[in-house]
Amino acid sequence: MCLCLNECAYIIFFSLFLVQNCQYHPNTHFNLFGLDPYLNTDAGTMSPFEHGEVFVLDDGGEVDLDLGNYERFMDIKLTRDNNITTGKIYQASSVIDKERKGDYLGKTVQVVPHITDEIQDWIERVAMIPVDGKEGPADVCVIELGGTIGDIESMPFIEALGQFSYRVGPGNFCLIHVSLVPVLNVVGEQKTKPTQHSVRGLRGQGLTPNILACRSTVALDDNVKGKLSQFCHVPEQNIITLYDVPNIWHIPLLLRDQKAHEAIFKVLNLQGTTKEPLLKEWTSRAEICDGLHEPVRIAMVGKYTGLSDAYLSILKALLHASVDLRKKLVIDWIPACDLEDATEKENPDAYKAAWKLLKGADGILVPGGFGNRGVQGKILAAKYAREHRIPYLGICLGMQVAVIEFARSVLNLRDANSTEFDPNTKNPCVIFMPEGSKTHMGGTMRLGSRRTYFQVKDCKSAKLYGNRTFIDERHRHRYEVNPDMIARLENAGLSFTGKDETSQRMEIVELPNHPYFIGVQFHPEYKSRPGKPSPLFLGLIAAACGQLDTLIQGSGSQGNLSAKLGNGIAMEKVYPKGTTKPAKVLSDGLYSYCNGVQV
Ligand SMILES: *[C@@H]1O[C@H](CO)[C@@H](O)[C@H](O)[C@H]1NC(C)=O
Ligand SMILES: *[C@@H]1O[C@H](CO)[C@@H](O)[C@H](O)[C@H]1NC(C)=O
Ligand SMILES: *[C@@H]1O[C@H](CO)[C@@H](O)[C@H](O)[C@H]1NC(C)=O
Ligand SMILES: *[C@@H]1O[C@H](CO)[C@@H](O)[C@H](O)[C@H]1NC(C)=O
Repeated sequence: MCLCLNECAYIIFFSLFLVQNCQYHPNTHFNLFGLDPYLNTDAGTMSPFEHGEVFVLDDGGEVDLDLGNYERFMDIKLTRDNNITTGKIYQASSVIDKERKGDYLGKTVQVVPHITDEIQDWIERVAMIPVDGKEGPADVCVIELGGTIGDIESMPFIEALGQFSYRVGPGNFCLIHVSLVPVLNVVGEQKTKPTQHSVRGLRGQGLTPNILACRSTVALDDNVKGKLSQFCHVPEQNIITLYDVPNIWHIPLLLRDQKAHEAIFKVLNLQGTTKEPLLKEWTSRAEICDGLHEPVRIAMVGKYTGLSDAYLSILKALLHASVDLRKKLVIDWIPACDLEDATEKENPDAYKAAWKLLKGADGILVPGGFGNRGVQGKILAAKYAREHRIPYLGICLGMQVAVIEFARSVLNLRDANSTEFDPNTKNPCVIFMPEGSKTHMGGTMRLGSRRTYFQVKDCKSAKLYGNRTFIDERHRHRYEVNPDMIARLENAGLSFTGKDETSQRMEIVELPNHPYFIGVQFHPEYKSRPGKPSPLFLGLIAAACGQLDTLIQGSGSQGNLSAKLGNGIAMEKVYPKGTTKPAKVLSDGLYSYCNGVQV
């Protein structure tokens, strides 16, 4: 199995695990955020094929997939403030505003101290907002600093952290430096030079790493550790190797076995009160994952570019669900365009291959889309699933194409379309339904957590969500199913089982007389967690394996559905304003090589 992960993420996961699982103090809180040396103020404007998917938070914050990884692994709820970028510092932190108001008394505004002070203020402010659902400010705060040593962009952040570490003093700041130790294939020699260079660069900018996290394909030899220790001035027990493992669940175990927690707690002066982290659940998950063999084939019909990061949350959600049902997930990527008639003439081989994969699948998933290329192919996939009774899950655009397909095939409205693709269609099934201001650009998207009310008790989605009356899931879209078409569609057999509080926005659509045919306007994938799979993904995998009935009746191999459904289920949480207790800071990142890692 191949999972792609940013190195930095590894150490963050585990750093947080330690705090979560060591229970050295019953009320220990943690917090985390990323510092990003880019000028964009939110990830929504970046292309998913360049940067991986856009991850949407409850509060509508659009962040990149690293924060998504943290939310999933730690099972926490982050806010848009958990991600600082240079752009935000300049914009929101009001350096420019303050200058205008004359707060700097006419002095020149400079990176040091004005920008660096703002960064430190931001850290201290955001550290006060707990993300783990407990009350009060965080005790330990994890910061990921992205970028590469030597980047001009990251200079102000490194400078700010340098000042910060000096100010809070030893015992309150722990710097984990992530770097690469390449292995020369022929002789298996482990090269320490890149790490030495990056540590030297870091020192040159005033920061000294306490812990080295070395990314490598194999465990480091003792003499290599010795060499690193000598040249980088880091004790050997503080040098941790992140080597390749068969699946991602092994990572916390690997770090525990190298006593990473002891090293971190020692630097933060917390060792007297700590215990061995409790990782029973993770150990069993790692073992289950290694032992899976019975495959379930899911066809993903999207825009395939060779970069699966664009659909990372969906992949994770499928994985969580299949591990839960003890199945080995096999994903067949199908470029939507290849299913279209035009491809049959232009590239018959691709056309045949695409249809062969689609017909061989146990389940079909059509994710949200970007642009109008491949829409026809997605419509054909939905049609195939509907007519051949193959389990289908459509997300966002995947729901819309299912509705358009139904209108065309069943209602016989040949020109049914979305106004997104055909502004003049006589049968607009999907229309522009922005939220809030129609004039303010960017404010028109329906973004973040919104409530969906079930309209029908006896439907698959409501049962999968544990018979709740409503759920909260995250949204990111501008177009929606046209409310004026609902009556006709429902008369023909489609059922809109979930709507918003005004009943004008269609959230869930189902075909009742189909084994599993569900479309959702929201993105359930964002709230799927290891051990707490998203109900609709669980339903898709169960249906693909012919186990949906047992799952819904609660007597499947896993039994108790309500016990593990943590997702989409409304939880009101009020975060009290924090006091001003200073948090210990665990700073991580400053990695010198940051390509995705195959685990
Ligand atoms: C923070 O946001 C910026 C731009 O919006 C993005 O490039 C960056 O990757 C984000 N960082 C994290 C950790 O999500
Ligand atoms: C309508 O939708 C289809 C997708 O099936 C698209 O290919 C087509 O170009 C759209 N527009 C018109 C004007 O038909
Ligand atoms: C939901 O209700 C159905 C009956 O309508 C029942 O069979 C099922 O067990 C219930 N599910 C849960 C999780 O309570
Ligand atoms: C299901 O789990 C819930 C919560 O853990 C528990 O209260 C309930 O008794 C369980 N039901 C069954 C049938 O095991």
